[in-house]
Amino acid sequence: MVQMISPKILFKHCYGKYAIAAVNVFTMEQIHGLFSAAEYSNTPIIVQITPASRNYAHAEMLMAMVNTAAKIYTKTIFALHLDHGIEEHIFDAINNNYTSVMIDASHDDFETNVKRTRAVVNKAHKKKIAVEAELGVLSGVEDDMDIDVSKAFYTNPQQAKEFVERTACDSLAIAVGTSHGAYKFNGGKGLQLHILKEIQQQLPGYPLVLHGSSSVNKNDVAEINKYGGELAENASGVTDEELKEAIGYGICKVNIATDIRLLWAKVHRKFFAEQPELFDPVIPGKEYMKTCKELLINKFEILGAAGKASLIVV
Ligand code: 13P
Repeated sequence: MVQMISPKILFKHCYGKYAIAAVNVFTMEQIHGLFSAAEYSNTPIIVQITPASRNYAHAEMLMAMVNTAAKIYTKTIFALHLDHGIEEHIFDAINNNYTSVMIDASHDDFETNVKRTRAVVNKAHKKKIAVEAELGVLSGVEDDMDIDVSKAFYTNPQQAKEFVERTACDSLAIAVGTSHGAYKFNGGKGLQLHILKEIQQQLPGYPLVLHGSSSVNKNDVAEINKYGGELAENASGVTDEELKEAIGYGICKVNIATDIRLLWAKVHRKFFAEQPELFDPVIPGKEYMKTCKELLINKFEILGAAGKASLIVV
């Protein structure tokens, strides 16, 4: 059975009906959590590696872990994606069998974004690797970037159409009010579904990507703070209802990183606060893998993706 497939196959299957969770992984525990959730709930997934995770765990280590996870969880169907790439990492990923890459030139002016994206598309498509690009700027903290709310701007729907036509990118990440990290909607405006709708009207049937999609569970934030954390009260994320509505407007890929990071902080803070005499990483590590699996199974259900992996014909 072919397990690692192009996200283009996944998007064709899910468009307008459900969305694929694209989960950023940095550690073995997160990879176990993600693959075991996917296998348990028969859900197609996108495994996301970022330049920062490659810098942390090493690109080879991550690749080996993903390949090994596929051998352990033999029923999983997944795409392997480089999130927020720059050319150096993208060309390495293209040569190392990723099934898709993201070129994030959204901070450049429109023409430069078109030019950089087109150059990546030309290289990637020669190897049948899909390309995600981004138009519009999200605020928030993602890996090494910290974008102030005042510098963020929404995607212009007309420009989105022109951008896709000129670059031939396979999916487009759009800025419609979400932001990376645990403090979304600080600008107070919330998810701009009407802009998303306009983008879909300009690009009917075309797969759109929502970055900054974590829900920032209030209970997790409260637990983190109860056990010594200092997250601000205004931590908040995208609601389940907003995610469901966005799927109807062409969102096929929903990026998640913060939710499993908050969970990590909660599990470990609670564990060591309650059992300060312990120091073995294996015990909280097991708890983290288990709860990560549960969190992701729930996420797949919200996105309508649970039960869909075995229906995908490669
Ligand atoms: P969150 O910070 O909402 O999890 O978003 C992650 C993301 O968009 C990765 O590209």
